Amino acid sequence: MKVLITDYDFPDLELEQSLYGAAGIELVVAQCRSEADVIDASAGCQGLLVQYAPVNKKVFTARPDIRIVSRYGAGYDTVDVADAREHGVWVGNSPDYGVGEVATHAFAMMLSLLRHIAFYDRDVKAGTWHFTSSGVMRRVSDMTLGILGLGRIGKRMAHIAGPSFKRVIACDPYIIDGDFPAYVERVTLQELFSGSDALTLHVPLTAETRGIVGRDLLGLMKPGSVLVNTSRGPVVDTDALLDALDRGVLDSAGLDVLPVEPPDTGSRIVQHPRVLLSPHAAFYSQTAERELRRKAAQNLIDWARTGRPTYVVAEGRNSHP
Ligand code: NAI
Repeated sequence: MKVLITDYDFPDLELEQSLYGAAGIELVVAQCRSEADVIDASAGCQGLLVQYAPVNKKVFTARPDIRIVSRYGAGYDTVDVADAREHGVWVGNSPDYGVGEVATHAFAMMLSLLRHIAFYDRDVKAGTWHFTSSGVMRRVSDMTLGILGLGRIGKRMAHIAGPSFKRVIACDPYIIDGDFPAYVERVTLQELFSGSDALTLHVPLTAETRGIVGRDLLGLMKPGSVLVNTSRGPVVDTDALLDALDRGVLDSAGLDVLPVEPPDTGSRIVQHPRVLLSPHAAFYSQTAERELRRKAAQNLIDWARTGRPTYVVAEGRNSHP
């Protein structure tokens, strides 16, 4: 078997090289940015291990030998799963390597916004020393925490952040009542946006969630509320968010993900004084990074051995269509 790592931003690939070496799998490596790059680099490959490179029917049509794609990550929006299904290609991911990291990161961003930590830091360094320098602050234990998407990360967020708030509400139409923890109240999408003082997003990027946080829902939010996004950048309409910040509907926003990564440093979203940013780092700890890489790589080894990856997003066919 031959596998292409389409792209990566890890410091090295020693872990992958040693896993594939031990499994007798040939490895080729590239830094693809487009489908054309993936097609060029994947001659003779049956498996792809992808980070950000786009993989869809263009690739599957040009390279019918490809039978499996494994994504470095829990989200897999860079891989067109419908196209993979159509071409009988397996899709795998690494869903559970960083649940704690992402939830902790979202909670840290949220507390930093609610307690004005990032804003105080800027003020103090600019020479202003006063507890009201960054505006009015409210008591967190009087607030309602809202969660959009109560999957692995959303539930962990409810668990670790919930006790700091008065009430926790969530919207997730795809999970049953019994999977809502007892202390999380199920609400509609509209009730979530109108009822939250601090709202955190934990949905995957899909056709339904792309741009879901736009003018309509942001317009329902309480004046002075905060929004944290550690899911995917395109879930939020950036122009609508900037507008909500400028109108004071939102007090501030914490964004780990943006529609274009890395962003233009001169862009309004990067420069906005009430936006706190991190560089798509919510998943990261040294341990999580290694677990992510090991699990994503192992999908391909397991498929070569058993015909099935460990973490299945979409079932494929093992022979050519
Ligand atoms: P998950 O699949 O366990 O949970 C996602 C939840 O969202 C599911 O319960 C699903 O029913 C719900 N959902 C789907 N569509 C919805 C909608 N329209 N409205 C409300 N709920 C909806 O996924 P997990 O592990 O919790 O991860 C969530 C997302 O976080 C991933 O898809 C990924 O994009 C992002 N992520 C970001 C990372 C980062 O470093 N910033 C790292 C890891 C994941």
